[in-house]
Amino acid sequence: MTPRRASYEGISLYSPPAVPCRVDLSDNTNLFGMPPAAEQALRDFTPSLITRYPVSYAPELKKALSAYSGFEASWLTTGCGSDDLIDCALRAFLEPGERIAVPEPSFSMMSYFAKVNGLQYTPVPLRSDFEIDVDGLLATGARLIYVCSPNNPTGTVVSRAVLERLVDAAPGIVLLDEAYTEFASASHVDLARSRPNVIVTRTLSKAFGLAGMRVGYAIGRPELVAEIEKARGPYKHSGLAERMAIAALTEGVSWVKARAEDAKEIRKRLVAELKAQGLEPLPSEANFVLVPLPGAPQVAARMRERDVNVRAFQGLAGVGDALRIGCGPWPLMEAALQALREARR
Ligand SMILES: Cc1ncc(COP(=O)(O)O)c(C=O)c1O
Repeated sequence: MTPRRASYEGISLYSPPAVPCRVDLSDNTNLFGMPPAAEQALRDFTPSLITRYPVSYAPELKKALSAYSGFEASWLTTGCGSDDLIDCALRAFLEPGERIAVPEPSFSMMSYFAKVNGLQYTPVPLRSDFEIDVDGLLATGARLIYVCSPNNPTGTVVSRAVLERLVDAAPGIVLLDEAYTEFASASHVDLARSRPNVIVTRTLSKAFGLAGMRVGYAIGRPELVAEIEKARGPYKHSGLAERMAIAALTEGVSWVKARAEDAKEIRKRLVAELKAQGLEPLPSEANFVLVPLPGAPQVAARMRERDVNVRAFQGLAGVGDALRIGCGPWPLMEAALQALREARR
């Protein structure tokens, strides 16, 4: 008999279709690459980064993040991607059996993290205008409420007044996921300072182009951050990942900002082209666009035959079938638009 935790029965691994394609627009990473300063740090790595442990709790990385975010180091913690920080926060603040509430559709890993932490998971549909349903979320009685803005996969954002109402009435933590904040018109990170129950997670996987290095961070009051650090443990990223992240955060910020502006410009052009094909993409403030399209999985399969990979969703709540298309250099968008045209014929 395989020794096994009863609640782990039926948990399947997250495995989005990994089809090697010339044009891969499926995972919202930075299609422009990474900041040259980070690449230089990779070339300059010293063997001691490999043979010795990194300094525990990543103080140098926190210093760089502090300069970038405007929050003191004691308000910051880092993790192996923001995935890891979400997982750690759930473990830090909730006992097994407690409940989290998550708008639907939203980041698909949330139900997975709930399961592996033994938590009850309650999805609460977005309203028809793609705003979160504050009363619905509060009615769940959840001790932690997750909000993603810009939201994956819709690309839509939560409005300030709605978020404030949620935060001020929530009985526990509100975890605000700002993985795509660099592409948005506004951030709500200041709520981490002004409210005692807000934690904001962010990542270097998207605008910073370092998805493979696995570096994310969380912002919150020092007493909240201290709890997450208990769940996190001392060594979360490699020394090399730390060096590359520090280089990106210190010398690479102007590159990151310029490429984020490029992605926003391209998003506008992509939306116009999709509309010209008779489609109605959702209003996005992320580096991707969600396009409702009946039969999206079949269309995506035909696009893959044309060497273009986009993420297909089937029966998303309030949306139906849809394609999520990442924004990158225009020649990639042209390839995607052409493949989409052909796949829909
Ligand atoms: C909304 C959202 N949050 C968090 C993540 C996790 O990113 P990472 O673990 O690379 O920081 C993703 C990745 O796609 C995401 O879309």
